[in-house]
Amino acid sequence: METANAAETQNVAALLAALSKPGDLILLLGDLGAGKTAFTQGFGRALGVTQPITSPTFTLAQQYEGDAMRVHHLDVYRLEQLDEVTDLGLPELLDDNAVVLIEWGDAIVPMLPADYLEVRITFGEGDDDRALECTPVGPGWSARKAAIVRDLGGVGEC
Ligand SMILES: Nc1ncnc2c1ncn2[C@@H]1O[C@H](COP(=O)(O)OP(=O)(O)O)[C@@H](O)[C@H]1O
Ligand SMILES: [Mg+2]
Repeated sequence: METANAAETQNVAALLAALSKPGDLILLLGDLGAGKTAFTQGFGRALGVTQPITSPTFTLAQQYEGDAMRVHHLDVYRLEQLDEVTDLGLPELLDDNAVVLIEWGDAIVPMLPADYLEVRITFGEGDDDRALECTPVGPGWSARKAAIVRDLGGVGEC
């Protein structure tokens, strides 16, 4: 799916938030400034998070309270070693009535459970143009492929 501004990306995120449930993992991939944090803002807002969601680049992990579940927002850009992932306590975060979103998660794929939704954001022609691509990896999100197609118009081209 193509978006022409941050609000449109946040709308896509809100549609995916509506399909998400506790224990879900979402990897946000894309270069610096692609819109991974902007996506998370739309996602969190749709789940009832009222606190401003900011980049967790320096804190690595940030927790937000939504209406029915929490949002754990991680940014692993600054992780220097793969085994630092263990310190993030991912299993506990996933088991915390929460959805976990990880920016730059591709770097730590070998350390992750093989059940997540990958959302890749790439730059388009204009400054504010982006393309969003959704790829379910593993059973949890694969089971929701039809719903993603219904609500967002496609998988791959989400
Ligand atoms: N279509 C778009 N989707 C997402 N963000 C956009 C879009 N167009 C412009 N932007 C802007 O790009 C920037 C993305 O920043 P951010 O979300 O922090 O990126 P990242 O977390 O991927 O480094 C924000 O300033 C946002 O307003
Ligand atoms: Mg970011």
